[in-house]
Amino acid sequence: MAEKQKYLLPEPEKEIGRLTEQDSVITHMMKGVRILAPIDFKQPGFQILDSGTADGLFLRSIQPQLTEPYKLLGFDVMESFFPPVAPPHTTFGIHDISEPWPAELHNANDLVHQRFTIPGGAKKATPREIVHYLCQLVKPGGYIQLVEMDITGTALGPAMRDAWTVTGAFLTAAGAGSDYAKSMPGWLVEEGFENVVDRRVDLDYGVRYKEGDWGVRGAKVIVESFRGVVGACKMMNIEVPGIDLDTVPERAEKELMTEGGVYPLVFAYGQKPLA
Ligand SMILES: C[S@@+](CC[C@H](N)C(=O)[O-])C[C@H]1O[C@@H](n2cnc3c(N)ncnc32)[C@H](O)[C@@H]1O
Repeated sequence: MAEKQKYLLPEPEKEIGRLTEQDSVITHMMKGVRILAPIDFKQPGFQILDSGTADGLFLRSIQPQLTEPYKLLGFDVMESFFPPVAPPHTTFGIHDISEPWPAELHNANDLVHQRFTIPGGAKKATPREIVHYLCQLVKPGGYIQLVEMDITGTALGPAMRDAWTVTGAFLTAAGAGSDYAKSMPGWLVEEGFENVVDRRVDLDYGVRYKEGDWGVRGAKVIVESFRGVVGACKMMNIEVPGIDLDTVPERAEKELMTEGGVYPLVFAYGQKPLA
């Protein structure tokens, strides 16, 4: 299948730039904390698997915290996103999250991480199945951390509410539905994970974020993704009653720059029991 068709949003060639900027904004607003799971990264010998890794931005960023020897594994369906040369200790591979993972990766990883990727697999598997497959990869005593936006979360103004409604229509057509983010912690409990935490974080975007230009940068990047969602809705002939799709990104941008808005995230993490 052509890579263009594999990607949920139009214009995959622009995606790494958008993801990099989005990651910078989120990381700044999270005060540099990417992993909420209580892991002591000073221990040597870790194996960390990042699913939906894109160009490996998450793996690259946590590398300075790790102690050698360690192994980083990045998987994605979009081979063209992988960097031409893998950073040290890092291996990239192709895997579709809607499929069970190879047996040799089961019970083998100290941390399994996946962010903003469930919708990409939801045409062929349910979000619940995707999470089940990921849980199989965690070593006993190891952690999983899943991060997704909660489109049913806080929406302060009418334009952002419409933007999330359109995003919900798109995600429902893509097979993910709109409740998968807030269901993740319960699914980890069902999988037998312990110390499961359901952490909701509302990042302030636009003028609600007062420090530097981060709020504006966040607004720009989220509006860019709304543009992608509107483009995808058009390709999929999705209409949303009462909402003019064409005006959604522009209205959201104006609202973010005058009133501000929030980007609601769910961080779900937990530990696989040792026994
Ligand atoms: C929105 S991006 C998020 C990238 C990165 N995890 C981050 O947080 O910045 C989604 C990533 O998931 C990948 N992806 C989409 N569908 C997938 C699938 N079925 N299996 C594996 N990866 C997939 C995309 O190629 C893309 O790299």
